[in-house]
Amino acid sequence: MTAPLDIVIMAAGKGTRMKSRHPKVLQKLAGRALLQHVLDTAARLLARSAVVVTGHGAAEVEAALAGTQSAEAGYDLKFVRQEPQLGTGHAVQQAVPALRDDGMVVVLSGDVPLTQADTLQALVNAAGSDKLALLTVSMPDPTGYGRIVRNEAGTVQRIVEQKDANEAERAITEIYSGIMAVPARHLTRWLARLNNNNAQGEYYLTDIVAMAVADGVPVVGHRIADALQVAGVNSPLQLAELERAHQLRLARQLMEQGVRLADPQRFDVRDDARGTKASLVCGQDVDIDVNCIFNGKVTIGTGARIGANCHISNAVIAEDAVIHPFTHIDGEKAGVEVGQGALVGPFARLRPGAKLGREVHIGNFVEVKNSQLADGAKANHLAYLGDATVGERVNYGAGSITANYDGVNKHRTVIEADAHIGSNCVLVAPVTIGAGGTVGGGSTVTKSTEPGVLTVARGKQVSIGNWKRPVKQPKA
Ligand code: UD1
Ligand code: CA
Repeated sequence: MTAPLDIVIMAAGKGTRMKSRHPKVLQKLAGRALLQHVLDTAARLLARSAVVVTGHGAAEVEAALAGTQSAEAGYDLKFVRQEPQLGTGHAVQQAVPALRDDGMVVVLSGDVPLTQADTLQALVNAAGSDKLALLTVSMPDPTGYGRIVRNEAGTVQRIVEQKDANEAERAITEIYSGIMAVPARHLTRWLARLNNNNAQGEYYLTDIVAMAVADGVPVVGHRIADALQVAGVNSPLQLAELERAHQLRLARQLMEQGVRLADPQRFDVRDDARGTKASLVCGQDVDIDVNCIFNGKVTIGTGARIGANCHISNAVIAEDAVIHPFTHIDGEKAGVEVGQGALVGPFARLRPGAKLGREVHIGNFVEVKNSQLADGAKANHLAYLGDATVGERVNYGAGSITANYDGVNKHRTVIEADAHIGSNCVLVAPVTIGAGGTVGGGSTVTKSTEPGVLTVARGKQVSIGNWKRPVKQPKA
């Protein structure tokens, strides 16, 4: 019988070194708040509850998290406030009223985003039903951390904080990660006995280790090798370092599946701005050049190629499609679909609801929004297609636009199969260009046209023979 898990996440600290107007735990890694990473890990542990201890920026933290939690999380999320912040022991004390006696408590920090669920599960297993388990790691430079003090037999005796440690203790390289698993009934009892008689005048959570030893409760030091999993964020530099480490981890996973990344150091996968979780799924023989950013849910089909410097969000790119460099694709909610063998870019922009069929060509400086382009349609240069339905093999000329907005409402443009729209045309919606028809360059089309006809809607060309250029007048 394993005890239900209750997670306590300390997130009251100020994060002074971030020098931000916003609480540290809301800073983003891979587009997701640090604290949300921690909560997601809690969800993977199948925790019964998560109690977040807030302090600095409490209202902002609570508001940011309340919006993102849903039934899918599967645990009960609570917030408690710690004001003022008197140390980590004091932080966990605030959570006690929200904890139940039968639980196993896992203490985490809201600014440590990369801990893996299986690591925490191993820690919980090490705690069993009645032990205190500490997640530890050895560091070449342990400065600043609490040191794990063991006796000759190797049994953990206590944790000593850097500022309270003597020289011999400071030489210990095994440090406390800030993460522990502890039975609630013991934790509650020990917390009530904490004092702040130490170098920092704080209530140290780490003092419960010596209390466990005194009470005869076994203490297990569960040591891992991967320091990244316990690394905290205190500064923009550390945030960037963890971001790179996280991205490299994702890049490696994809490369193991056969995805060819030109440079795993120049590759990013993030949640999108609306909170859609990052997910990049690739088929076989996908090539991704440098400096590409993928947001939200992106699928890339077998044999597709992504050029350098593309920004792609919420899109499905079918097999053998080619996205040329500097293309911006953002499907937001409606999504973007790029058909099999389609060519997009360089410098193209696909917006929500752009659905391209097979072999469609979208060239440089072409913007497509909420429009369907059937197989083989082409818009190769400098054009706008908004709220349009474009038939097969349509050729849409350079500089042409659909005037889809009358200042109040949006209207659709329909261009039927095999129509040819010349350069610099304005198709004023609602309007339909009949199948196989041609629109002469420079036309402003306000009325629908019949299939097969040539439509020209512009001033007639005139030439004036005896016209003289003005000459410069001499100065008076
Ligand atoms: C703590 C541990 C130390 C360990 C280190 C790992 C204690 C006394 N020391 O160090 O042994 O090596 O973590 O990083 O626990 N917080 C609050 N309220 C407070 C104080 C802190 O919510 O009153 C939060 C912080 O926001 C942070 C976390 O607790 O998320 C850890 O606090 P921090 O000050 O970074 O840890 P230390 O006390 O330096
Ligand atoms: Ca501290």
